[in-house]
Amino acid sequence: MATTTLSPRTSTYTARSRVLEWLTTTDHKKIGVMYVILGLVMLLRGFADAIMMRAQQAIALNSDGYLPPGHFDQVFSSHGTIMIFFVAMPFLTGLMNIVMPQQIGARDVSFPVMNSISLWFTAAGAALVLISLVIGKFSTAGWTGYPPYSGIEYSPDVGTDYWIWALLIAGVGSTLTGVGPASGVPAPVKRRSSTAVAAPGSGGPLHTTTKLPN
Ligand code: HEM
Repeated sequence: MATTTLSPRTSTYTARSRVLEWLTTTDHKKIGVMYVILGLVMLLRGFADAIMMRAQQAIALNSDGYLPPGHFDQVFSSHGTIMIFFVAMPFLTGLMNIVMPQQIGARDVSFPVMNSISLWFTAAGAALVLISLVIGKFSTAGWTGYPPYSGIEYSPDVGTDYWIWALLIAGVGSTLTGVGPASGVPAPVKRRSSTAVAAPGSGGPLHTTTKLPN
């Protein structure tokens, strides 16, 4: 009997397609993992900012130190902005993505494609913060950006614009992420199986915290 040898599937499954699969995935667990990775990358940057600030404070006891005041203010503002919007929030959103559908016995979040788009909006906002100090400036108005200091009169350079755009782009992401849980627990038809037991109210705390950052 003639036999056909099939080449193993893994040979065509290259590293490139694996990367592409992750980048284009709508799987809530993979998206959650990527949020956590984004948070870890940004934690390194936020930590670097923190070290720069502490080094300046240590060195500048009896001298001007190594960071000019304007630069210190940018580092201070990017540290706060990064730690809150690009570390704490992605960690929370990542955890929510991984845990919540499983908690309620759903196959995925309500809108998987929108969930993927949300991640990339957040990543684009993070990228803008990362490149701002290289190609331009960053805001000096702290992570809260309170006016009037953040206004055109006291912050006339491009720094505040980078801050505004980064938060606006990432804010679209976090708002869209919140639409899924805010629109309610996915219908029973989306559940993995009819025997999956949804723990009543178990999605509640994550549901509430998702709404808060929006
Ligand atoms: C890794 C250790 C960290 C160090 C050494 C550090 C250090 C600093 C320093 C020196 C400042 C400036 C304080 C001042 O001059 O008044 C600061 C501000 C701040 N830090 Fe950290 N930090 C760390 C981690 C974090 C984390 C994990 C978060 C939040 C998730 C965070 C959030 C903030 C915020 C929100 C501000 C205020 C920034 C602003 O008002 O714009 N930091 N930090």
